[in-house]
Amino acid sequence: MARILFPILASKCIVFSLLSSFTIIVVIGENHGFVRTLDPRLIGIKKEKLSQIRFYWHDTQSGRNPTAIQIVPPVSNTSATSFGAIKMINDPLTLGRKLSSELIGRAQGFYAMASQEELGLLMAMNFAFTEGKYNGSTISVLGRNTVYAKVREMPVIGGNGLFRFARGYVQARTYKFNSTSGDAIVEHIVSVLHD
Ligand SMILES: *[C@@H]1O[C@H](CO)[C@@H](O)[C@H](O)[C@H]1NC(C)=O
Ligand SMILES: *[C@@H]1O[C@H](CO)[C@@H](O)[C@H](O)[C@H]1NC(C)=O
Ligand SMILES: *[C@@H]1O[C@H](CO)[C@@H](O)[C@H](O)[C@H]1NC(C)=O
Repeated sequence: MARILFPILASKCIVFSLLSSFTIIVVIGENHGFVRTLDPRLIGIKKEKLSQIRFYWHDTQSGRNPTAIQIVPPVSNTSATSFGAIKMINDPLTLGRKLSSELIGRAQGFYAMASQEELGLLMAMNFAFTEGKYNGSTISVLGRNTVYAKVREMPVIGGNGLFRFARGYVQARTYKFNSTSGDAIVEHIVSVLHD
């Protein structure tokens, strides 16, 4: 008798524990009017990861195919810092220093000349990756870029796809700058915590 009962009891136990773990998840989802508290597991959030991404950012203003184009002129032609100018960018991101090296995505957005004292830019851009499993994932950056400083640090304020819940920072170092054409190649190292 006991032998027959045992498997039944065991399966009841399994069913009960499955039900109770399900209830725990549901109970954690509390309602506060139009805002809901969710168990992070319900939207597939596991352990936070730290990733480091390194690439070169090519800002080309000259030639027949510029990827940085002025969309708003400076407020005055006598401003040494081009205060008020805004440039829209679609800058290629490559693994190597050369523009011809492997393309992994583009920096899309704009930068604005935001300082009257030095060349200080407000950067607002998304790194839109196109390579492999990262194709379609983005990292959003909003920060200050004093382009003549050796290292500039800009905050990562978010991301999508494989970079959901991204936060972190970017360190930018100029590799090459042509002051005649304005063309620049800048190394970017992104350190990002994400889901
Ligand atoms: C700046 O110079 C350009 C070209 O000479 C001219 O078209 C523009 O009106 C000037 N802008 C201002 C604010 O003076
Ligand atoms: C990235 O995704 C887009 C849209 O799904 C697709 O058209 C493109 O070919 C993909 N690129 C690479 C390099 O896989
Ligand atoms: C800098 O840009 C100018 C104008 O496009 C070009 O003539 C010159 O060769 C460039 N200098 C270097 C070192 O690439």
